[in-house]
Amino acid sequence: MVSYKSLGLVNSKELFKKAVAGGYAIPAFNFNNMEQMQAIIQACVEEKSPVILQVSSGARKYANQTLIRYMAQGAVEYAKELGYNIPIVLHLDHGDSFELCKSCIEFGFSSVMIDGSHLPYDENVALTKKVVEYAHQHDVTVEGELGVLAGVEDEVSAETHTYTRPEEVEDFVSKTGVDSLAISIGTSHGAYKFKPGQKPEIRLDILHEIEKRIPGFPIVLHGSSSVPQDIVAEINKYGGALKDSIGIPEEQLREASKSAVCKINIDSDGRLAMTAAIRKVFVEKPEEFDPRKYLGPARDKLKELYKHKVEYVLGSNGKA
Ligand code: G3H
Ligand code: 13P
Ligand code: ZN
Repeated sequence: MVSYKSLGLVNSKELFKKAVAGGYAIPAFNFNNMEQMQAIIQACVEEKSPVILQVSSGARKYANQTLIRYMAQGAVEYAKELGYNIPIVLHLDHGDSFELCKSCIEFGFSSVMIDGSHLPYDENVALTKKVVEYAHQHDVTVEGELGVLAGVEDEVSAETHTYTRPEEVEDFVSKTGVDSLAISIGTSHGAYKFKPGQKPEIRLDILHEIEKRIPGFPIVLHGSSSVPQDIVAEINKYGGALKDSIGIPEEQLREASKSAVCKINIDSDGRLAMTAAIRKVFVEKPEEFDPRKYLGPARDKLKELYKHKVEYVLGSNGKA
C-alpha cells in the first residue's frame, strides 16, 4: 500500500469546499504522458491554481500504473521547482469497478471516481457505497455519478442524454456518502457534442434544481471541452479531417463554475491542441524527425490552452 500522502498529493475535500464557497471550479485535466503532465503543471503553477491530474483506466493501461504514480509524485516536486507549491490531486477518472478503485487507492491515488451511472439506481448506490467505505478508510475522496451523458464513455455508449433527476440526488448522496457528484446536464465526451444547427446549450436549470436539493454539495461536470474552432481550423488546415466538431460554450461553463460546480473535466480540448501543433510541424518542417521538435510545440500549445481555461473557464487562478 502506497499512501498518496507520502507522495505529497492531497485529496479533493478542502479544495472543493473552498471552490464552492469561492465561486470557482478546480480544473481536472486528463493526462497520459510526460508532456501533458508538464504542460498542466507549468500552466497551473504560473496561474497559482490547484489542479486535479486525472487518469482514465485507458490512460493507466497506456502509461503503466507505476509510471503514473511516479509522474504524479514528480509533478509535486516539479511544481515546487517551478516556484510554487500548488495542491495536486491524483484522480481516477470513470472507475468502473470496486477492484479498479481499490487498486488505484493502493497505488497512490488520492481520489477516485466510481461511475455506476449506467447501472440501475439501486446497483449504482450499492457499488458507490462500497467504494466510499473502502476509500474513506484511507482518506481518499470519491466522486459518484447520476444520469448518463450522451456519447461514448469507455465501452458504454448512449444515443441521448439521460439528464440527472434532481429528485434522486439527495437520496443518492446520503445513502452512498460520496464526496462529490457528477451530473448529466447536456455535456458529453469527445469533440462532437452537438449536431450542426443544434443550439449548443447545457441545462443550467437542472443544475440549479439540483443545487436547491443539496445546497453547497460539490458538483462535477464531465464532457466539458469547448472544442475551440480556431484549433479545429488549424488541424484541418494542416491535413486533418474534423467535421462539425462542436463543444460547450465557455461562458456557460464559467457560469456553472460560479455555482456548486467545483470540478470541470477537460480532455478533448487538450487532445485537439496537441494534434494541431504536431500537424503544423509535420507540414511546415517535413525534414524534422526529432520528437522534441514536435512534442515541444505541442506542450507549449497545451500550456497556453490550460492557462486560458484556468483564467476564463474555471476561475481558479490565484486560489492555490
Ligand atoms: O472521459 C473520458 C476521458 O476523456 C478519457 O478518455 O478513456 O480515452 O482515456 P480515455
Ligand atoms: P471532454 O471529452 O469534453 O474533454 O470530457 C472529458 C471528461 O469528461 C473526462 O472524464
Ligand atoms: Zn468524463
